[in-house]
Amino acid sequence: MKGIILHGGAGTRLRPLTFTGPKQLVPVANKPISQYVLEDLVSAGVKDIAIVLGETYPELVKEHYGDGSRFGAKITYIHQGKPLGIAHAVALCREFIGEDRFIVYLGDNLLQHGVKPYLDKFLSEELDAMVLLKEVKDPTSFGVAKFDERGELIGLVEKPKKPPSNYALVGVYFLTPVFFEVVKNLKPSWRGELEITDALQMMIDRKLKVSYGIVSGWWIDTGKKDDILEANALILDERIERSIQGEVINSRIEGRVSIEEGAKILNSIVRGPTIIGENSVIEDSFIGPYTSIGKNVRIKNSSIEYSVILDNVEITGIERLEESLIGKNAIIRKNEERKIIKLHVGDYSEVNL
Ligand code: TTP
Repeated sequence: MKGIILHGGAGTRLRPLTFTGPKQLVPVANKPISQYVLEDLVSAGVKDIAIVLGETYPELVKEHYGDGSRFGAKITYIHQGKPLGIAHAVALCREFIGEDRFIVYLGDNLLQHGVKPYLDKFLSEELDAMVLLKEVKDPTSFGVAKFDERGELIGLVEKPKKPPSNYALVGVYFLTPVFFEVVKNLKPSWRGELEITDALQMMIDRKLKVSYGIVSGWWIDTGKKDDILEANALILDERIERSIQGEVINSRIEGRVSIEEGAKILNSIVRGPTIIGENSVIEDSFIGPYTSIGKNVRIKNSSIEYSVILDNVEITGIERLEESLIGKNAIIRKNEERKIIKLHVGDYSEVNL
């Protein structure tokens, strides 16, 4: 069994963060999203993994994961460049896969219970392909499953206006090398991409054994800011333990809070679940639940809740910052004397005052 993690794509919905790095490296609970994906594969016993790189700073991905040994994996890098589609990205891995079965995992998808529970079904039923599905309220922005009256999977439709069911296609696909034969005949869709849904549809039409698993627990496709915040809250809620490595002076630390080495909390309240990264300084502030603060962050006279703050940020004098995603090296200050707003904001930023 081999694994493929897709680390390409344009990430337009996460601009401006994706001007300086791929979206899969955006951290939740201070760890890149794609690292949860890699760790999930490794804990399911899948250790021989290809990472498919796009055109947005692929060197940052290599820098973070290296040869994979730090994570108990063996990593091969495959360059896709422009996002020509998920099926295109997978097709590039033909040589890497050889004759093995494999899992394709989108590097921005998170599953509460991981892939292990579904792997056994895929292997024991000797399927040619297996998809994972999750019931959602509004499936129109997803690939959607179509079933016959016996509940067999008979089709997959990409972003349908009239969805044939409420079951959305999760970003994890279990495949066999027959996929590479099918993809040879695949034509680009109207948006110019080789679509994984079209490839799977061709497999179904050829009467290959294509089945599905229904995902229990949560699944998040972290394409937009609000998804990142939700993923951050869920991961903090489930995985953060109370651990105080840094210094706490005249402050109250409530609940499951992780304060990493070199961090300093002065005259402040920190309420979990929350993580404060290495060498960050929190002074005269309130850091509320569901907040992740990166490394070397400076927060003074501010109150922050339900937010993700990346490394080297400075926040001063902000009374209530909520539901915010702040990119690396950003500075947010309130000028107490003058009621003037001065902004130096990157392309595609969003400021709500
Ligand atoms: P998407 O979220 O559909 O696309 P995107 O990353 O371009 O984002 P946006 O719509 O905001 O511009 O991609 C799903 C996942 O698949 C994501 O992890 C990126 C990855 N991907 C590739 O690696 N190569 C590709 O060609 C495409 C289309 C996606």
